[in-house]
Amino acid sequence: MASPATGVVVIVGSGLIGRSWAMLFASGGFRVRLCDVEQQQVTDALENIRKEMAVLELRGSLRGRLSAKEQGSLLSGCVDVRGAVEGAVHIQECVPEDLELKRKVFAQLDQIINDQVVLSSSSSCLLPSQLFAGLVHVAQCIVAHPVNPPYFVPLVELVPHPDTAPETVDRTHALMQKIGQSPVRVLKEIDGFALNRLQYAIISEAWRLVEEGVVSPSDLDLIMSDGLGMRYAFIGPLETMHLNAEGMVSYCDRYGEGVKRVLKTFGPVPEFSGATVEKVNQAMCLKVPADPEHLAARRQWRDECLQRLAQLKRQMQPQ
Ligand code: NAI
Repeated sequence: MASPATGVVVIVGSGLIGRSWAMLFASGGFRVRLCDVEQQQVTDALENIRKEMAVLELRGSLRGRLSAKEQGSLLSGCVDVRGAVEGAVHIQECVPEDLELKRKVFAQLDQIINDQVVLSSSSSCLLPSQLFAGLVHVAQCIVAHPVNPPYFVPLVELVPHPDTAPETVDRTHALMQKIGQSPVRVLKEIDGFALNRLQYAIISEAWRLVEEGVVSPSDLDLIMSDGLGMRYAFIGPLETMHLNAEGMVSYCDRYGEGVKRVLKTFGPVPEFSGATVEKVNQAMCLKVPADPEHLAARRQWRDECLQRLAQLKRQMQPQ
């Protein structure tokens, strides 16, 4: 067996995201303690993760250098977080997105952790200044926001509290790289962080285009999946500008005025209600009926696509 990395990682909350983190840290050779409030939830989570690892191994998509069995043996579960945090290098909180609940969990952790461990939240949109306010160990706190499904989409947004120590950010950045994730530093906190701000900008214009009858809902999605999304899997919008002219300065010279003209025609924030919801829902349900079976099957297909794309991206190293 390849030797596991020294270090224990504690995951608090063994739902969808907690399980993904557990798999990622185990893939990096870390010993993982998965905690939840109910023993049955932990037992189910561990069983589910080990099964998932075996399936991924069969498909050739298991991450890391250890076998599924070796990775599975790095996992343990518990309902007593006090015992679990002993000797941990990193704690990843993954309880539901509820500010009061998260603050309760952090207040409890704050009392039992040492001065070395990093205390990290998976929150998608709660601000670090709200999450970590008043904690003694605030310098060790950070948000590490993954993207679903984290096993195949490697981006992690690192968002510090104003009092987070730079060393906490650096250590978390290094740890994420070590487990094969792709961390970015959000240099100061902002509502929605960076990824969701971009996502909401797209959702917003997508909604307006459909609402105003410019394109149908299914064609709108095709514009992303067969258009912008194709290149965005490899290069971002800024590099796209750079490559679509003779460099960035040339792009701004040639296209800047046109971009500004179009941007000025963008409408207000949509209401996401009324007739447009019905129209969009009808189109989506034609493609994927909104019952648990069809939704689960489509998610499974999406994850398989992302898994293949992740393999392709590994092969296509930048020149
Ligand atoms: P989930 O509802 O699937 O899992 C939450 C887990 O936390 C459950 O197993 C629950 O029993 C456990 N829990 C509740 N209170 C607890 C406590 N006091 N101590 C220990 N465990 C406790 O939620 P999910 O989707 O995994 O989300 C977790 C976090 O990750 C949220 O902050 C969410 O915003 C964030 N996130 C979610 C993404 C998603 O697509 N689901 C994507 C990125 C981030």
